[in-house]
Amino acid sequence: MTDTKETVVEGVEALTLNGKPDGEPVETGTDAQAQEGAAAAAAEDVVDPWNVASSNDTGVDYDKLIKRFGSSKIDDEVIARFEKITGKPAHHLIRRGMFFSHRDLHTILTLKEQGKPFYLYTGRGPSSGSLHVGHLIPFMMTKWLQETFDVPLVIQLTDDEKTLWKDLKVEDAIKLARENAKDIVAMGFDVNKTFIFNNLEFMGKCPAMYQNIIRIQKCVTFNQVKGIFGFGDSDIIGKIGFPAAQAAPAISSTFPFLFGNKKVHCLIPCAIDQDPYFRMTRDVAPRLGFPKCALIHSTFFPALQGAKTKMSASDQNSAVYLTDTPKQIKNKINKYAFSGGRTTVEEHRELGGVPEIDVSYQLLKFFLEDDAKLEEVRVAYSKGEMLTGEIKKLAVETLTPIVEQHQAARKLITDEVLDKYFELRPLKCGS
Ligand code: TRP
Repeated sequence: MTDTKETVVEGVEALTLNGKPDGEPVETGTDAQAQEGAAAAAAEDVVDPWNVASSNDTGVDYDKLIKRFGSSKIDDEVIARFEKITGKPAHHLIRRGMFFSHRDLHTILTLKEQGKPFYLYTGRGPSSGSLHVGHLIPFMMTKWLQETFDVPLVIQLTDDEKTLWKDLKVEDAIKLARENAKDIVAMGFDVNKTFIFNNLEFMGKCPAMYQNIIRIQKCVTFNQVKGIFGFGDSDIIGKIGFPAAQAAPAISSTFPFLFGNKKVHCLIPCAIDQDPYFRMTRDVAPRLGFPKCALIHSTFFPALQGAKTKMSASDQNSAVYLTDTPKQIKNKINKYAFSGGRTTVEEHRELGGVPEIDVSYQLLKFFLEDDAKLEEVRVAYSKGEMLTGEIKKLAVETLTPIVEQHQAARKLITDEVLDKYFELRPLKCGS
């Protein structure tokens, strides 16, 4: 049950990304890097906090990624233990393999078994005002985990990160953070158990966070962040220091109003591209006297054009936005959703479709909760009984009410409602 692999992989060795040796200089944004990226794509999928690309129609090879990153698979045994300890069926995103990888999940389950405390930490980089449906996934999981475990949740909005990485002013990033927070709150997080903060404002209110950032920065060299994140000599210094700001919330003393000076374990649901930050965090935490954070990782949400890339907030046609109208949703899916169907109806009836590469089917896997219905669709589509037009229609019918409900819920989030989540206060969890 223990992750023996991890002890080997972690430590200094874990402080590398994509197998690059620690300290090997990698210039960002150069031709050399572009070439290297292209070469890597042919041989290997590219997965880091800024790029996701696969040359394969089925998308990233996640089993290979687990090996490369040194995490552990969420297999049937993990799921069985999860269900035994929580006393309820695992979330469909876990059962269907969309949350597919973890680090130290067993530690968290043992804490739950023993009635000991831990907390959840997740976040979002507010890079645009409009979220797409893929952005809901980590938050759906987080909400379910919070309800299942009844533990405090902290949500970090990295407006500092997006200021540094994008063409975005400090003031505008702060505004986007608030706008994004409305979407997050609209998902129904319990205000008594959830604390939301944006770095650009929180750090001034909570000296403990900045103090932890400095402690973390003191533990990591430039060579190490170069190895992990691919930073180069011409990158602005803000980028080089930023990873400590994403690491700090995984150390419980960053939130004295929540945890006092208790050393509380932390579980982080996130997409697998965020793992480099937390490999670094896990390396540093024990040196500061804190437990290593545990993680559960999700796969990427496919772009409408296919699973070779993920849905992107900056490409209008790659995504279904939470602000789209029913008509827009219908048009986008009909026009852009990559089809695993055949060229002609006759051929499709004869050979059947390929759900593994069909984006409508992938959307259903994420959002259609009914297992029996999903399996029915998979079988019918594979056999050619169900046509591309029909699976697209079902995808539209599944997504539209989700987006409509989200819009209705978001309308109710006034500034007053939002402010409550941002207030520094103790949370009320546990029975
Ligand atoms: N860097 C993440 C992004 O760009 C945001 C983030 C901050 C995050 N802290 C996190 C994501 C913790 C997952 C878990 O979206």
